[in-house]
Amino acid sequence: MLDLTTVVDTVELEQILTLQQQNLVQNIDEIEMQTQGFVTMIHNIDVLQRMHDLAPSVIAKDNGRVVGYALVMLRECRELFPPLEPMFKNFDNLEYRDRPLNDYRFYVMGQVCIDKQYRRTGLFDQLYKKHKEIYENRFDFIMTEVSTRNQRSLRAHERVGFEILNTYSDELDEWAVILWNWK
Ligand SMILES: CC(C)(COP(=O)(O)OP(=O)(O)OC[C@H]1O[C@@H](n2cnc3c(N)ncnc32)[C@H](O)[C@@H]1OP(=O)(O)O)[C@@H](O)C(=O)NCCC(=O)NCCS
Repeated sequence: MLDLTTVVDTVELEQILTLQQQNLVQNIDEIEMQTQGFVTMIHNIDVLQRMHDLAPSVIAKDNGRVVGYALVMLRECRELFPPLEPMFKNFDNLEYRDRPLNDYRFYVMGQVCIDKQYRRTGLFDQLYKKHKEIYENRFDFIMTEVSTRNQRSLRAHERVGFEILNTYSDELDEWAVILWNWK
């Protein structure tokens, strides 16, 4: 049975990196990229550990192996992970419901990925349900961004309840900036 939980040790962080490698845009072919989705950002164990020290990420485990993850990245991590600086810069200029976005209590879902064999099972929704369960008292909502080329991920996020706030481009891609207001 799948265990929906939060990270507790380094082995799990390493397993997250393994799953990440398997789904990196440069490690899969064009058809897989278009149909299954892909991840762009590469973390390392040190960054994951420091993110974890601030707030543990949500994972799904099957028989002791991480088969899905949805990372928690607090805004305090901004300096920790420079590839996401364009995202945070974009946040600085955004408004939500007539107030500056940065006035709200939110965190970033840093990356979501599900092992191929566990897709189309409802696990995606469960990962986010767990986020809500753990973090809804401390935060108003979750932000994240998804490549506009990743239609599978965009559809799944929309189903959970994410809305698009804006779209912008940086040197890596064009991103849909999305927000899930779980109140
Ligand atoms: C993006 C990703 C996390 C989405 O997870 P998923 O399990 O594939 O997504 P879904 O839950 O939407 O499942 C895909 C389809 O199965 C359907 N489905 C979901 N749960 C189901 C269930 N229990 N039974 C039958 N079908 C189901 C969904 O409705 C969806 O249908 P659609 O494509 O017609 O909309 C996953 O595909 C993935 O890890 N891809 C590679 C990495 C990636 O793209 N990460 C996101 C970066 S932003």
